[in-house]
Amino acid sequence: MADKKVIAVIGATGAQGGGVVRAIHADGRGEFTARAITRRPGSDKARALAGLGAEVVAGDADDVTTLERAFAGAHGAFCVTNFWEHLSPERELAQASAMARAAKRARVSHVVWSTLEDTRHWVPLSDARLSTLKGRYKVPHFDAKGEADEAFLREATPTTFLLAAFYWDNFIHFGMGPRKGPDGELVLGLPLGGGRLPGIAAEDIGKCAYGIFRRGTDTIGQRFGIAGEVLSGPEMAAGFGRALGRKVGFHDIPFDVYRGFGFPGADDMGNMFEWQSLINAEFCRARDVDLSRSLNPELLSFDEWLANNVGRIPLE
Ligand SMILES: NC(=O)c1ccc[n+]([C@@H]2O[C@H](COP(=O)([O-])OP(=O)(O)OC[C@H]3O[C@@H](n4cnc5c(N)ncnc54)[C@H](OP(=O)(O)O)[C@@H]3O)[C@@H](O)[C@H]2O)c1
Repeated sequence: MADKKVIAVIGATGAQGGGVVRAIHADGRGEFTARAITRRPGSDKARALAGLGAEVVAGDADDVTTLERAFAGAHGAFCVTNFWEHLSPERELAQASAMARAAKRARVSHVVWSTLEDTRHWVPLSDARLSTLKGRYKVPHFDAKGEADEAFLREATPTTFLLAAFYWDNFIHFGMGPRKGPDGELVLGLPLGGGRLPGIAAEDIGKCAYGIFRRGTDTIGQRFGIAGEVLSGPEMAAGFGRALGRKVGFHDIPFDVYRGFGFPGADDMGNMFEWQSLINAEFCRARDVDLSRSLNPELLSFDEWLANNVGRIPLE
């Protein structure tokens, strides 16, 4: 253990970072050990990570000093922000900038930053195809992460950029799965504008990040877009149908209808789906299933993910 290189993991009690910690500790003969960073080291989730063999330390992305302390002596750092906790792109950008600065000050040799595209490079604020949100964003939870890439570059933090994809786990946790229509038949509704959606098992994101750490510092400066599969709406509905053993239809929800759903961030999510459809071929090309499998040979297909999870998806 003492000779293993430490990977400090932000978001370790969450989906992405948790996957990184579990991937590191599942590989008993690997060269790394994980240091889980959390605001609540005494939480059940933190204790579960300690049970895997991870060191658990306190750290808060709103406080750069705590991050610097948490990164001290680490070889690597996995960095992720959670926009959905506060819905503030400015705060997300500040947190990511603090991560970049802390990693630089702590002399971390390899950072993997979980980012997304700054959609304003494709749809500038002057482009009326998408409404401008929160004053200077088109898709706030994408744009702030993309803008934060520059913080990692500005600080000259040795960073590999990981472009995540839609978690299929959203079908479990965010009520995005198939619902019964008026005729009693199940229908999967998503606003895809006829396009395809790169998706991934959330756990595979951490496994791919671990694959990047294993590949090493030669990957610094590169962008790795990952996905388990890139599927159309009808293809995902057919997957649900196979897993459930009953017919599941697909409804392509109009973007305006989706933006009007009224949940916190519905406008942001609606713009995200519309932007993904506007540049669909390019968006999908940026997430490469073969590359993802080369980082993580255990990468799940949608059918495989469904076989493990279909019982957890609320269908009413
Ligand atoms: N859902 C999707 O389809 C999807 C796809 C691509 C990207 N994303 C992005 O994924 C991000 C969320 O990642 P996730 O799903 O892994 O999160 P998650 O499961 O919701 O967990 C959030 C994690 O963030 C940590 N955290 C939050 N604020 C923190 C702070 N101030 N300091 C330190 N740690 C903090 C939490 O740690 P503690 O509470 O233990 O401190 C927790 O581990 C979002 O920004 C989202 O935009 C989501």
